[in-house]
Amino acid sequence: MTIRPEIVDAAQALMRGDLVIMPTETVYGLAGDATSADAVARIFAAKGRPRFNPLIAHVADLDAALREAVLDDRAQALARTFWPGPLTLVCPARADGAVCDLARAGLDTVAVRVPAHPVALELLRAFGQPVAAPSANRSGRPSPTTLADATAETGDAVAAALEGGPCRHGLESTVVSLLEGPPRLLRPGAVTRAQIEALIGPLAEAEADARRSPGRLARHYAPEAPVRLSAARPEAGEAYISFGAGWPGDIPLSRSGDLVEAAARLYAALREADARGPTAIAVAPVPDEGLGEAVNDRLRRAAGFIG
Ligand code: TXA
Ligand code: MG
Repeated sequence: MTIRPEIVDAAQALMRGDLVIMPTETVYGLAGDATSADAVARIFAAKGRPRFNPLIAHVADLDAALREAVLDDRAQALARTFWPGPLTLVCPARADGAVCDLARAGLDTVAVRVPAHPVALELLRAFGQPVAAPSANRSGRPSPTTLADATAETGDAVAAALEGGPCRHGLESTVVSLLEGPPRLLRPGAVTRAQIEALIGPLAEAEADARRSPGRLARHYAPEAPVRLSAARPEAGEAYISFGAGWPGDIPLSRSGDLVEAAARLYAALREADARGPTAIAVAPVPDEGLGEAVNDRLRRAAGFIG
């Protein structure tokens, strides 16, 4: 099988320790060699992350994940059902794993995921090592869901950028930890709580084990303008993001009230609202069921309500 020239270029950039913008089915990632502390440090610098928050190691398949992490029966059941796909598993790191300490933020655990985007899989196969890839936004800004948005955020920091079209899900992966004790939902995402619980039983909340979920920063995913949630209608000067029936001039998440469409449009809607320079961004109520849990999680972060 021949490897496309842009994939060869991007894989070579990773081998040199340079960074690459990589499309995934969730959001665009700022990718670097997860086994190289230099490359990972470059990711933190490019994002302007305020502190070292552990990164997800993206791998090409379950076998590659098993070289980095110890997946118990529950983790393997989830992996077999949802990979490739928008689910990240936090598991004990193998002592002989290749993911560097900095990518794991010094923890004895590692987050692994097999993304479903064909371009990401081409790159992971060509590179042959785990790839660390946080969302390709600068820290605290909405995640990019198109190549143009990703390039505007962190394009200066990369040696290559791969086109993958608009992201299918538009929301980051669901993060589940499978360590000692009950499985925990560290971050709601594109795979819903109900889908996971159907396979492995009830999920505990992350808050009960904050030490293990270092990524839960306030004002994460935030636009410039303040965000007002559960707004039935816009006030003068506000941009309005609607769900279902809206108002003239609003920015719809989904006119038909479809949560999948709403999730996919969320970050683009926040960017579009912000670009209008409003006094605030008012957002219509979004039901908390299914994918709505992840949409509301990101909205509360945009509004600064989750610490
Ligand atoms: O959809 C996604 O997951 C995207 C695409 C690019 O794959 N990536 C992404 O990465 O959202 P990032 O770095 O923005 O989010 C990683 C999340 C953070 O909340 C981090 O704290 C958590 O995963 N995480 C990573 N390693 C962890 C670990 N060892 N223990 C607990 N949480 C961990
Ligand atoms: Mg992010």
